[in-house]
Amino acid sequence: AAIQSDMTTRELLANRVTQALTNLFPDENNWEPQLTAATRPEFGDYQSNAALSLAKKRKMNPLQVAEQIAQHTQMNDICEQPQVAPPGFVNFTLKKQYVAIQLQKMLADPQRLGISPRERKERVLVDFSSPNIAKEMHVGHLRSTIIGDCLCRVLEFLGHQVLRINHVGDWGTQFGMLIAYLKEMKPDALMETSSTSLGDLVEFYKAAKRRFDEDSVFQETARKEVVALQAGDENSIHAWSFLCEQSRKEFQQIYDMLDVKLTERGESFYNEWLGIVCKELEDTGVAVRDEGALCIFVGGHTGRQGKIQPLIVRKSDGGFNYATTDMAAIRYRVKEDKADRILYITDAGQSLHFSQVFEAAKKIGYAKLETKLEHVPFGLVQSEGGKKFKTREGETVKLKDLLQEAVRRAEEDFRKRLQAEGREESEEYIKRVAHVIGIGAIKYADLKNNRTSNYQFSYTKMLSLQGNTAPYMLYAFARIQGIYRKGDLDLSDGQSESIQFILDDPTELSLAKMLLQLEEMLYLLERDLKPNILCDYMFELSQRFNQFYETCPVLKAESLQRKTSRLALCKLTANTLQLCLHLLGIPTLERI
Ligand code: ARG
Repeated sequence: AAIQSDMTTRELLANRVTQALTNLFPDENNWEPQLTAATRPEFGDYQSNAALSLAKKRKMNPLQVAEQIAQHTQMNDICEQPQVAPPGFVNFTLKKQYVAIQLQKMLADPQRLGISPRERKERVLVDFSSPNIAKEMHVGHLRSTIIGDCLCRVLEFLGHQVLRINHVGDWGTQFGMLIAYLKEMKPDALMETSSTSLGDLVEFYKAAKRRFDEDSVFQETARKEVVALQAGDENSIHAWSFLCEQSRKEFQQIYDMLDVKLTERGESFYNEWLGIVCKELEDTGVAVRDEGALCIFVGGHTGRQGKIQPLIVRKSDGGFNYATTDMAAIRYRVKEDKADRILYITDAGQSLHFSQVFEAAKKIGYAKLETKLEHVPFGLVQSEGGKKFKTREGETVKLKDLLQEAVRRAEEDFRKRLQAEGREESEEYIKRVAHVIGIGAIKYADLKNNRTSNYQFSYTKMLSLQGNTAPYMLYAFARIQGIYRKGDLDLSDGQSESIQFILDDPTELSLAKMLLQLEEMLYLLERDLKPNILCDYMFELSQRFNQFYETCPVLKAESLQRKTSRLALCKLTANTLQLCLHLLGIPTLERI
């Protein structure tokens, strides 16, 4: 197989094993090298399990097959002589020399650390954040925003074309009620020159809902407003955009605090295609009428009374819904955006909806056979003790307050630390540190969990300087950077290639191998879309760094050559942590 620039060490080895298998057993091609990271340290770095299945299939002795594979695999530029272990594993240990060369490549490329962009670029549309107008942007949307941004950053780094889409809930029957209420309560808000603000939009929504529930005359007015809005009545559209604009400003404050970029393309964008989509679905027979509603029977999910729960795309009153919009959105995203891969970052509660939408989209051909449609679900945010996430008064927590509280606490901690250590910093720097740590802590606490599980929100834990937290990582970065700065390592043009890495101590080698794992880790993340992979990696890297630093003197190393090598290891560790933090959406600090 051809060598590609974005091939990892594991893929390189896998190629060599495949080659050996093809040479040994020429009567068959498509051999699976079955090469994985070693399951135990005594197995070296990688292992191939190919001999086991092969021997079984051909009724041979697995140990002998493994022996043959080990003999015939050409890899002395990468590995020591492969070892065979019962019942038939082939184990590979990387050569120090190979590791050292890879480190040199990383060192020479401080921006990308030797990771080349993917040769096969994809257009990836990431549908994330997606709050609803006039309703609350809650912690679920915060999770979606944080996870979505991290995944976008990783995919962008790997060279893909990423569309960051905010599928805002800006359409639907609730607008009839909102517009009617607006006209009634704040008619002047809709005047040309008005600068009226509605204040708390969520409160406004609640008041409108109360009015709606209590008064049947108002209900009728609201219904008429829906019809007028859908018919494109100028007045209604004006009121609708006014409401959207109010929400938009509030959402933007959150995005600015989080430093997240999104392109808004809300549900209303697809309005003009909803009718067409239903017609196409019905014409192709993908959707059928059932009790007046237009339904797609997919997924075989049974609802109550054992009845299959279809995906409804047009209600019996003729109204379109969430699912219709998602069908129209896929159609547009594949046809117009030319997306190869579409990711939907929402809570796990929407899994059924997306599995049905995906199946229907493939069935009618809105998505191609090879289009990757992926729901990226996540669990709930809970209070400590696993309770529902609410304020002490039982109200839902406002996101802005939540973020500001983290920043406030981070500032308090930092000031205490400065005082205890007798350090001084400018007010400006203190504010910056508080912001980076506070927001970083919230992001990290979210991303470090396996996203599918629920997680418990705790300011104390996320802001702790100990453990797998943002402050710990930021601290590790600042400390390691400080070490190599003191060492005057000259890495000006061309110098880095001449640096010889000496990896004699086991802690040096173990740190070095972890640095080399960066690329494989990112590819895994690209496939599995689990940001905790990144956090776990950083944590393990910082642990290995600590072991190295406890064992190996850096500034006082016994020779200049060793000192240089160790300083370079420090620099690579710092650069790697910085890149990882950046991919999580967390900037680094010089001192914390
Ligand atoms: N607005 C929805 C919500 O708040 C999320 C939208 C997700 N994206 C989508 N294409 N359905 O639950």
